[in-house]
Amino acid sequence: MRIPLSKRLLACCNYISPGDRVADIGCDHGYLGIHLLTQGIASSVIAADVNEGPLQSAMRNAAKFGVRDKMAFYLSDGVRNIPREFDVMVCAGMGADTMVSILEAAPWLKSSNYRLVLQCQSKTPMLRQYLSENGWRIMEESVLRDGRFLYTVMDAEYRPEHPRLSVGEYYFPPALLENPAKELPEYYHRLLFSLRRAVTNQKENADPQMAAALKELETLTDDPALDFLKEENHDNGQ
Ligand SMILES: C[S@@+](CC[C@H](N)C(=O)[O-])C[C@H]1O[C@@H](n2cnc3c(N)ncnc32)[C@H](O)[C@@H]1O
Repeated sequence: MRIPLSKRLLACCNYISPGDRVADIGCDHGYLGIHLLTQGIASSVIAADVNEGPLQSAMRNAAKFGVRDKMAFYLSDGVRNIPREFDVMVCAGMGADTMVSILEAAPWLKSSNYRLVLQCQSKTPMLRQYLSENGWRIMEESVLRDGRFLYTVMDAEYRPEHPRLSVGEYYFPPALLENPAKELPEYYHRLLFSLRRAVTNQKENADPQMAAALKELETLTDDPALDFLKEENHDNGQ
């Protein structure tokens, strides 16, 4: 029986190291934790969801794949009701507003004891800004295609001494360039397109942050090392 794990969730799993104790917050179906346990990657998994229905479905799926006894299930808004004995908090498939509220409610996460693996569905620049302003450093970030969409997954550690991101980096963080994926030029062009449209449409009411980010992004390719970003990749993965 195959676990129906999306490419998006598989990309999150790639940031889990052997033996990590994982807390999957907003687990829904529970497939991420089930995969990590059946593959022998995580040493334990806490599966938490704010809604009873998804949590029940995670329990049923865990039983179906034989890992019911290895997972701990919690009805919890963020990490409020779960034990603090884990190494990595995974949050996937949520918007930045929800992720920020989960992090804001748990200042104890700001410690070298924890890592975050975040796959944000909307307002990702806002999430990166929040992380940067709160001492989290994005150590790695990757972009991937799943169906028609491009997603990013980031791995963050609490490193308050690290310099903060610039406004442009909220949109296109340096971590994306560390290990550039083939989808990166397309991701870059999509960002340029949406920023240009927003700045043009807003005219005199333009958000100064967006205008500054656009300027920063437009000059990125002045660096010959980043010439590859000029090439838009039209492979839509279908
Ligand atoms: C769109 S699903 C994503 C499920 C899975 N993580 C994925 O990426 O496929 C979002 C899940 O997060 C849960 N959720 C939303 N807000 C939450 C919160 N504050 N704390 C815990 N779970 C939350 C929802 O009930 C839902 O099951």
